[in-house]
Amino acid sequence: MRPQEGLFHSPGAFSGIAVLRLARDIALPQLREVVSVLHGELAREKGLHAVLGVEPALLPEAAPPPPAPLPREGPTARFPSTQSQVLVQVSAVHREPLLWALRRTLALSRGVLVLEEEVLGGRIGEGREAFGFRDGLLRPTREQVRRTALVPSGPLAGASWLLYLRFQQDLERFGRLRPGAQERVVGRTREGELLVDPPPEAHLLRVREAGAGENQGLIRRGFPFRHQGEEGLAFVAASADPGYYPRSLEALLGGNGRPPDALLRYATAVGGGLYLAPPRDWFHSPALPPEASP
Ligand code: HEM
Repeated sequence: MRPQEGLFHSPGAFSGIAVLRLARDIALPQLREVVSVLHGELAREKGLHAVLGVEPALLPEAAPPPPAPLPREGPTARFPSTQSQVLVQVSAVHREPLLWALRRTLALSRGVLVLEEEVLGGRIGEGREAFGFRDGLLRPTREQVRRTALVPSGPLAGASWLLYLRFQQDLERFGRLRPGAQERVVGRTREGELLVDPPPEAHLLRVREAGAGENQGLIRRGFPFRHQGEEGLAFVAASADPGYYPRSLEALLGGNGRPPDALLRYATAVGGGLYLAPPRDWFHSPALPPEASP
């Protein structure tokens, strides 16, 4: 199994996401050819890490596609769906390769895909999300990525299920909380220490209830962004099991006697979707239309 190399690298100082929609009724082989060329170019570029995801319904190997995790609604919050067909996540230590990658994404997909959403961001300080809390404290090892994020066997061996969610964060509202109350929302101190007795609605306890935490269940690859006065988190997770996402989103939404995640009072999901990052061989052996086969 040859997974996409980008899956092993946490987002760097500069990160971006491009979500692209099929321009018209394009046959799968044509889409596959376009994303294969794109994957080849981005994978060869030094100083750049890229992950390409495709809408699961487009991959015959993923049939039948898993139930969509989005949209999903709880008593106090919701996760809307803006599912599209292709997701490209790029990250780099410098801005130049990142911009190059986004430009190539558009140039190579012209006529087949149209850009629907682009989010640019990157690391804050030594790795903080927009509320100022340390995030991504435990960098996953290659072995943890392999174990947690890669489909181990079958026709999709080496693939990874990606959940993308774009959150807007209300910095003003969160900033009105006293420091101790902010820490109880997250379940950790700003510097990342675990609270001794976090409340049940703390983010950390909600995600841990779903079996996540310490790079189990999912590997987080998101990054903070700022765009037109709005700050938030481009949340991206990679998992071997797509069924894990509905479970973790349910744990965040609460209901049935469970409290909703306190973080959702200050962070609103405004879109997202489920994508499948196929293994490298899927790109390197684009299916040819029958008449063009040797
Ligand atoms: C705006 C939205 C979000 C913000 C600001 C946020 C922020 C944080 C912060 C500050 C931490 C603690 C630092 C760390 O452990 O690295 C954390 C941990 C975590 N978050 Fe989030 N998060 C968000 C959304 C989500 C979502 C949607 C999920 C899952 C579906 C999630 C899953 C996790 C997991 C698995 C951990 C690690 C828990 C542990 O260490 O046991 N987060 N998040």
